[in-house]
Amino acid sequence: MTDKATLTIGDKNYDLPILKGSTGPDVLDVRKLYGDSDHFTFDPGFTSTASCESKITYIDGDAGILLHRGYPIDQLAEKSSFLEVCHLLLNGELPTADEFTKFERNITYHTMLHAQFDSFFQGFRRDAHPMAVMTGAVGALSAFYSDSLNVDDPKQREISAHRLIAKMPTIAARAFQYSQGRPFVTPRNELSYSENFLRMCFSVPAEDWVPNPVLTRAMDRIFILHADHEQNASTSTVRLAGSSGAHPFACIAAGIACLWGPSHGGANQEALEMLEEIGTVDNIPAYVQGVKDRKYKLMGFGHRVYKNFDPRAKVMQKTCYEVLEQLGINDPLLQVAMELEKVALSDPFFIDRKLYPNIDFYSGITLRAMGFPKEMFTVLFALARTVGWISQWKEMFEDPTRKIGRPRQLYTGATQRDYVGVDKRG
Ligand code: ACO
Repeated sequence: MTDKATLTIGDKNYDLPILKGSTGPDVLDVRKLYGDSDHFTFDPGFTSTASCESKITYIDGDAGILLHRGYPIDQLAEKSSFLEVCHLLLNGELPTADEFTKFERNITYHTMLHAQFDSFFQGFRRDAHPMAVMTGAVGALSAFYSDSLNVDDPKQREISAHRLIAKMPTIAARAFQYSQGRPFVTPRNELSYSENFLRMCFSVPAEDWVPNPVLTRAMDRIFILHADHEQNASTSTVRLAGSSGAHPFACIAAGIACLWGPSHGGANQEALEMLEEIGTVDNIPAYVQGVKDRKYKLMGFGHRVYKNFDPRAKVMQKTCYEVLEQLGINDPLLQVAMELEKVALSDPFFIDRKLYPNIDFYSGITLRAMGFPKEMFTVLFALARTVGWISQWKEMFEDPTRKIGRPRQLYTGATQRDYVGVDKRG
């Protein structure tokens, strides 16, 4: 087996080292190519380019496999808890009992927000999208927690990571309560991470929030399913922002902004809106025809990496059934979703393009049943993904070969020309 590839340009040969990961495709190392040959590589959308080395998450899109630090996502969703997965992603290993107690204590210690932060929310309009509030509020954390901004200090990096994981539920719940015109609810540290979040979202002064173990478990599982996903658009945004030495609050705010896009985290809201638009099973054939005529995409379908079933979608579908059963909800949109999935999976248009349901297909129905408006769906995604973002940021920062990210381009604009005064133009 050769450990180098040879590239021929004109009459010259260039050796490209082949790097091997622990699993997955080998990688051609083109780092010296420009210096040696005066050529760039061209890969818009990074479809064939590894942007970094990582030990956190592995995806085999053809086989429908997702591993965090080696552990399959379905095992983590079934047997673990979100906070345990946070420890795993951030520190590399599942915690011992003692390590978990300490980690949980560290996170709960940081769940509160500076009292002045609450007045910060008042600056937003009540009808602002909660993702707009999240982007602004998370960016503003650096103005309140300036004692952990020194990225060169490992202790401060750790504190910022813990603060982000701990404060995201409090910020997300406040964004929700603010949009509903309800007072903010203070976190309770004796509750579990997910229970505390649900209480902060749904507790009102006039009525105590009643815990429901099935819903708490569903929330925790949804957080686990969204915790990390390798070098996707928002994670790459976080890494690129961080490559300049920017502090984590700024980098995570950048990640949230990227996540909001409808091709990424914004798809869960759009998937539910699509099911609402279809309305009934009778309308599916006409809607599917519209997709095939390229009038619109089937939201919650397709994935850049998965060309087989998204393993998270399977767990999400099961969780969806559990939640609806527990709440005794017979949601007609579930019927639409199930039939749409059946129709799409037997249609050559979708089969040929390897388009399968992704995690967003069933998450909207589940979250709606739990009482969240669709504007909150991407916020919940951002909350859960924060641990992935900060773990990837930490890994990037601790990599001694770290360089500021600086992609090159294929320039196709005007070549050099002389300035012409306005009286001589046209
Ligand atoms: N509906 C209909 N056709 C689709 C869909 C879809 N959802 N997704 C891809 N296609 C088609 C494309 O039109 C293209 O067809 P063509 O080859 O005939 O031109 C082919 O499938 C390949 O699609 P690409 O756009 O090249 O795939 P890419 O990897 O760039 O896009 C993406 C992946 C953005 C996720 C896309 O599938 C999509 O837009 N899906 C809908 C939005 C969605 O659900 N996003 C959530 C992603 S998961 C997440 O962020 C958690």
